[in-house]
Amino acid sequence: MKKLIAGNWKMNGSLAANEALLAELAIGLTKGLAANPNCDVAVCVPAPYLAQVQALKSAHPGLSALDVGAQDVSAQSAGAYTGEVSAAMLKDLGCRYVIVGHSERRQYHGESDALVADKAKAALASGITPIVCIGETLAEREAGRTEEVVKRQLAAVIHANGHCISEIVVAYEPVWAIGTGKTASPEEAQAVHAVLRAQLKAATDQSARVKILYGGSMNAANATSLLTQPDIDGGLIGGASLKAPDFLKIIAAAHV
Ligand code: 13P
Repeated sequence: MKKLIAGNWKMNGSLAANEALLAELAIGLTKGLAANPNCDVAVCVPAPYLAQVQALKSAHPGLSALDVGAQDVSAQSAGAYTGEVSAAMLKDLGCRYVIVGHSERRQYHGESDALVADKAKAALASGITPIVCIGETLAEREAGRTEEVVKRQLAAVIHANGHCISEIVVAYEPVWAIGTGKTASPEEAQAVHAVLRAQLKAATDQSARVKILYGGSMNAANATSLLTQPDIDGGLIGGASLKAPDFLKIIAAAHV
C-alpha cells in the first residue's frame, strides 16, 4: 500500500515561518517525491493558514504533490456554532485531509468517542479523508488496557460510519509517546496496528484500503524501523514536521 507521511503542525507557525518551511520542503520534495512516487505527503496546518498554504502550493511547483489538511472539524454542517469550522469550508479551501480525535483534543477539549465519530462522518460527507487518531494513555497501558481502549475508540467510528469506514485513515498515537521523545518500539506499535487491522477487516471487506499511521515522537532516526513494520502504513508527525530536513528524512524512510 502507498504510504502516507502527514505532518501535524499543531498550534505552531506564522505567515513568515510557514513560507520559509514550505520553501525548504519544496526543494526537498522535488527530489524526494520523484525518487519515491509510492509515498503521499501531507501537512495538517492551523485553519487560519490553510489559504496561505494553498497559495504557496500554487507558487512552488515543488509542492504540487503535497496534500493539505486541517487539524479539526465541526461535527455540524453549518449554523450558529461560533468559532467552529465546517467540513464544507475545509473542502472549499482545498483540504484533502482533516485530523479528528487527536488526543490533545480528547484531553483538553473533552472530545468523546461519539463526537470524534461524528466529526469523521462530517468530513466524509464533504469528501475529506478523516485521519482518526486513537491511542491509550500511560496509565491505560500500564493497566494492560491498551487493546481495549484503542478498539473502543475505533469501534465508535466504525459504528457511526458503516461502509464508508474504508475511506478513513487511522492514526495510532499512544498518548505517552506524543511530544515526549518516548516512541513505542516498532514491535509495540506493530502489535497494536495488527489488532486494529483485524478490527477493520471484521468491519469491511475493503479494509485493505485503510492506512494505519503511527504517531508519537517519530523522527528521522526511528522512522525506518517503524515504517518497515508490516501494518504501519505511514506516520503522523508532530515536532519533526516543523523542521524541513527532519520531515524530508522521514519521507525518504517511507521509501520501501
Ligand atoms: P510528536 O511527533 O511531536 O510526538 O507528535 C505526534 C503527534 O501528536 C502527531 O499528531
